[in-house]
Amino acid sequence: MIYILGIESSCDDTAAAVTRDDYLLSNVTANQEVHRNFGGVVPELASRAHQQNIIPVIEAAIKKANISKNQLSAVAFTRGPGLLGSLLVGISFAKSFALGMKIPIIEVDHLQAHILAHFLRDKTSVKPVPVFPFLCLTVSGGHTQITVVKSPFEFQVIGRTIDDAAGETFDKAAKIMGLPYPGGPLIDAYAKEGNAAAFHFSKPNIPNLDFSFSGLKTSILYFLRDQLKLYPDFIEKNKADLCASIQAAIVAILLQKIKSAADITGIRAIAIAGGVSANSALRNALRKAEGENNWNVFIPRMEYSTDNAAMIAINGYFKYRNKDFADLSVTAYARSSF
Ligand code: KG4
Ligand code: ZN
Repeated sequence: MIYILGIESSCDDTAAAVTRDDYLLSNVTANQEVHRNFGGVVPELASRAHQQNIIPVIEAAIKKANISKNQLSAVAFTRGPGLLGSLLVGISFAKSFALGMKIPIIEVDHLQAHILAHFLRDKTSVKPVPVFPFLCLTVSGGHTQITVVKSPFEFQVIGRTIDDAAGETFDKAAKIMGLPYPGGPLIDAYAKEGNAAAFHFSKPNIPNLDFSFSGLKTSILYFLRDQLKLYPDFIEKNKADLCASIQAAIVAILLQKIKSAADITGIRAIAIAGGVSANSALRNALRKAEGENNWNVFIPRMEYSTDNAAMIAINGYFKYRNKDFADLSVTAYARSSF
């Protein structure tokens, strides 16, 4: 049996998890509240909070897994992409812990980890895991891409955003409306009471499988600026309808591209991953499209959608089986490597 300690510290969540083979034993996350009032993640504050959280979070993960740290086979950590100061906290801990325990370290790419989270098993798992090759729409705060996943080690990106990420668009739209960071979950919540057809925002016209969200963001900004001049309480009075309409516009852009990707590749197994895959409208739209297009759709459980360390541990498990270990000289990277 392979026991992996997974560590995730790429952005504003300090997380640790323990897996036994592909089975999740514990999954602990400390969210950082310090960024809420700044409208986004403040890198320096994030790395300081990671420093404070990392030991308690790892201790809690090992304790909850009900194992002794001597049983661990390896330590897997997020190498990138992410904030360098934040990544360094996790990487430095992983290196020194592994050195002390005389076990190998395994580097994990954060985006590949989001995708492979679909292979985690736990006591409530019932549904089958995706069969290779499958398409994955990865939508997070920093990334939006469509990947052909050929194996746990082969990822081919066939479309990506040319400007903002989907999560960033949610967060920026929320900020324009005066909502705190991160705005995605708040827009999702307010949208439940709103009419998605109330307002229309411009849709991008981008060829191939790439995405663009900056036009939508500008159209929201200008529309609200004009309305606020006429009606100062426009946002307050129309919050639910605005959220529902903005969300519908983002989901429509995502759906259109994943449909094209399925048509072009002929692949009918479709997965979503990343923080925005927690969005209820995106989940509902995919379920609907599954029936209409004869797809097989895979939607991660909520706790494996947003950043977590369980996804790092499962990647570590796959790499451990391949003896794909990192050297102690390994360093963090800020941008995606694939
Ligand atoms: O994957 P993630 O936790 O961190 C990154 O790797 O970026 O994604 C965070 C992003 C944020 O932009 C957040 O607003 C968005 O995911 N998000 C959502 C929802 N939950 C999280 N966006 C829309 N609806 C949600 N329910
Ligand atoms: Zn993420």
